[in-house]
Amino acid sequence: MKPNLKNGSINYLLPEDRPAHHWYRFVLSFPPHLVRHYLTRFGINTNHCVLDPFCGTGTTLVESKKHGIRSIGIEANPMAHFASCVKTDWKVSHEALLAESEEVARAARNELESQGIHDDAQAALDGLDGIATEELLALPQDRQELLLKDSISPLPLHKTLVLLRHLQGCADSPVYAHQRLALAKALVDSIGNLHFGPEVGVGKLKPDAPVLSAWVRWVRQFADDITVLQSQHGAHSEVYREDARQIAHVIEPQSIDAVITSPPYPNEKDYTRTTRLESVLLGFIRDKSELRAMKQSLLRSNTRNVYVGDDDDQWVESFPVIQQLADQIEARRVELGKTSGFERLYARTTRLYFGGMARHLADIRPCLRQGAYLAYVVGDQASYLRIMIRTGELIAAIATSLGYELIDIDLFRTRLATATRDQLREEVVVLRWKG
Ligand SMILES: C[S@@+](CC[C@H](N)C(=O)[O-])C[C@H]1O[C@@H](n2cnc3c(N)ncnc32)[C@H](O)[C@@H]1O
Repeated sequence: MKPNLKNGSINYLLPEDRPAHHWYRFVLSFPPHLVRHYLTRFGINTNHCVLDPFCGTGTTLVESKKHGIRSIGIEANPMAHFASCVKTDWKVSHEALLAESEEVARAARNELESQGIHDDAQAALDGLDGIATEELLALPQDRQELLLKDSISPLPLHKTLVLLRHLQGCADSPVYAHQRLALAKALVDSIGNLHFGPEVGVGKLKPDAPVLSAWVRWVRQFADDITVLQSQHGAHSEVYREDARQIAHVIEPQSIDAVITSPPYPNEKDYTRTTRLESVLLGFIRDKSELRAMKQSLLRSNTRNVYVGDDDDQWVESFPVIQQLADQIEARRVELGKTSGFERLYARTTRLYFGGMARHLADIRPCLRQGAYLAYVVGDQASYLRIMIRTGELIAAIATSLGYELIDIDLFRTRLATATRDQLREEVVVLRWKG
């Protein structure tokens, strides 16, 4: 794949890949060089179309576009969907992006300074000194409750809300989306108190952090990248906010030549938490009911998004290996006397996860051209009471039962499981649609 990269760093973004890819990215996203490897291996060229049904922050789409290859992305999380849309839009004017953003930053800085608030590094050290908390802008209660506690301190939040209000004045501008994504990037990068290790958590609380300068720095980076990107091929890219278990209605029959994707794994990772700060501040989730609706459109990969009426498990009812695995997890729970609500859901989540993957693999079949190749990057897991879940092997078994040919299960890298100290395999399940 990239033979000179070691296991620990194979997932990193290479410096030469940064334009567009580094605008906003999940910590665990697969790297662009993995996409390149499979584009080459599958013989994909500029006459073809690539699909990423779990496109997240758009690595497959951006990399395909850089190679002049058409692509379609599907993503259910609105923040990730937005990031993919912006990262594949290279038509904006770099001059307009810079000029309009400098203007917004100037107006926001003037307003803050009139309140005695300075956005530079020195002011950041002073924190709330001399500023009354009740004078600061805050989020409405129902939005504040959606945030991870302390994920942003009151003063940086105030400055962000002032910036957002000025930005709204540019809502009709062609560069508005890029400006907002640059803010999302600055929020997770330096404005908030988040750390990613790789799970999202709240780190050291900063009383203050530069907001306008952090945002402008990312805007400038985007603008520089746009000049580089505009000199590359570019190719059309469409991104749909849809549920990958039900997409046949948005994609033309037999139009997809390759799928390169990484679905969630059954590992308790909650992608709505990873993106919560910027999703709430940019207005993608406004209350608990919107959060719930979003979670319901996701594959059931963690116990926090399992609901009473869920029935994806019916897709794997006749799969003895999945049933045995779920039974084994439940038996271990009983044996260990684990009784929390989440632990009771481990077996059900496992069935729902593989059922959802079966539903997805069945659903996309009409969209695939005969002979299309597919690469699914998935990881083994031991998050459920240390029972090993061989995700790649199980997805390969489900896919072959649905008419796919299993070509290979490639090892991408291994990761240390904190619970068991085992090395978990992250694999690429390579399939071919026989038609
Ligand atoms: C492992 S991440 C993909 C990361 C991606 N390769 C990237 O470059 O950022 C999996 C993504 O699948 C999305 N997802 C989960 N369930 C989905 C569903 N049913 N339909 C569409 N997207 C879904 C999650 O929101 C998440 O963004």
